[in-house]
Amino acid sequence: MENKTCIITGSSRGIGAACALYFAERGHNVVVNYSTKEPAELIAKLEAMEASFISVKGDVSIEEDADRIVKETLEAFGTVDVLINNAGITKDNLMLRMKADDFRKVIDVNLIGTFNMTKAASAVMMKKRTGSIINISSVVGVRGNAGQANYAASKAGIIGLTKSVAKELAKRNVTCNAIAPGFIETDMTDVLSDKVKERILMDIPKGTLGQTEDIAHLAYFLAGDKSHYITGQVIAVDGGMSM
Ligand SMILES: NC(=O)c1ccc[n+]([C@@H]2O[C@H](COP(=O)([O-])OP(=O)(O)OC[C@H]3O[C@@H](n4cnc5c(N)ncnc54)[C@H](OP(=O)(O)O)[C@@H]3O)[C@@H](O)[C@H]2O)c1
Repeated sequence: MENKTCIITGSSRGIGAACALYFAERGHNVVVNYSTKEPAELIAKLEAMEASFISVKGDVSIEEDADRIVKETLEAFGTVDVLINNAGITKDNLMLRMKADDFRKVIDVNLIGTFNMTKAASAVMMKKRTGSIINISSVVGVRGNAGQANYAASKAGIIGLTKSVAKELAKRNVTCNAIAPGFIETDMTDVLSDKVKERILMDIPKGTLGQTEDIAHLAYFLAGDKSHYITGQVIAVDGGMSM
């Protein structure tokens, strides 16, 4: 795949950081995004590999921040070819105990954030008549999960958004697909108790949690020209969990 400029939201750690390293290692321009602390370790790694990158602090749930992330990308690299909407949070609780604020916050970051970034970046892609948008949904958005009504709603919303955007942009040669990871080893799953992890493992035909690179491989394929005829799809990377 020839040199592309890729914005990866929420790429200070976990799946996003793995994607940033994966794309950078292959010579692409990478925009690292986070909302709290600058990821010193990741930046050191990118510098050590002489990667072409910028890092931009910005909260994707805020429209002005999303617009600024795209603006800073254009200032640095002149274009946007790939957008990976990866920033995401959880605020788990059983539905009856869940505060409306915790429901709203998860929708704001995961779903509105994906909308804000897609709107800002797709304006550039539509003009160029090329681009790839990759949204990170979840197996939980497909199957639901007790204790995650807010998260499941946000990730299911991402699937509807993906298909609608794919239909709107297909004729402009811009693809939009979703990846639905199962349980991947990151900070997000580290907080789960051993008991919960045991229960999850019993539900995964492969019998192990996934690795961040498992998602990066597919994101890279969906960002490349060989996947140009794939759009509006939800592709599971979950060890068989959603079968
Ligand atoms: N791990 C899994 O098993 C799994 C499974 C299915 C789907 N996913 C999805 O995959 C994505 C990445 O998950 P992960 O496990 O890698 O998560 P993670 O390790 O918790 O990392 C989340 C990333 O999102 C950033 N972020 C959070 N809120 C943000 C905001 N408002 N604006 C910009 N960035 C923000 C975080 O940076 P700051 O802390 O600086 O904000 C961090 O870089 C998420 O969308 C998650 O829902 C994960």
